[in-house]
Amino acid sequence: MKILIVNGPNLNLLGTREPTIYGADTLEDIMRRVIDLGKTHGVEIETYQSNIEGELVTAIGQARTRRYAGIIINPAAYTHTSVAIRDAISAAGLPTIEVHLSNTHKREEFRHASLTAPVCVGQIMGFGATGYELAFLGLLRIVRSS
Ligand code: DQA
Repeated sequence: MKILIVNGPNLNLLGTREPTIYGADTLEDIMRRVIDLGKTHGVEIETYQSNIEGELVTAIGQARTRRYAGIIINPAAYTHTSVAIRDAISAAGLPTIEVHLSNTHKREEFRHASLTAPVCVGQIMGFGATGYELAFLGLLRIVRSS
């Protein structure tokens, strides 16, 4: 079984980007941990990051034909703006979990709304990097029980 993790803009800068908000781990560190967790459950996790909205849409759009069982996505700033990413998640028709490192509800008001969360199974936020592992475990249950 394969799961796709999609990370949006500026998440490539984790480690140096506002560490008091996002932590000190790099995206590579975080992805390595979740990939290792996947291996212990016999699941292959592939990861994709882009700063470009259309590239994210394309990656999500290819997920079904590439036979991923589900998606974990941190759309980053596009969470709050992107109808295109929301539509791509909807069109993919795969169980999808939205992750945010920070608790966006504790932050600026423009971060409180998510255009993408309503087309996801659920959302995990505020647990820092651990959120990806929690999302993986939640997604695994959904995929294995369907
Ligand atoms: C984020 C929260 C977004 O509001 C922000 O634009 C990000 C990161 C998070 O993981 O906490 O880039 O998605």
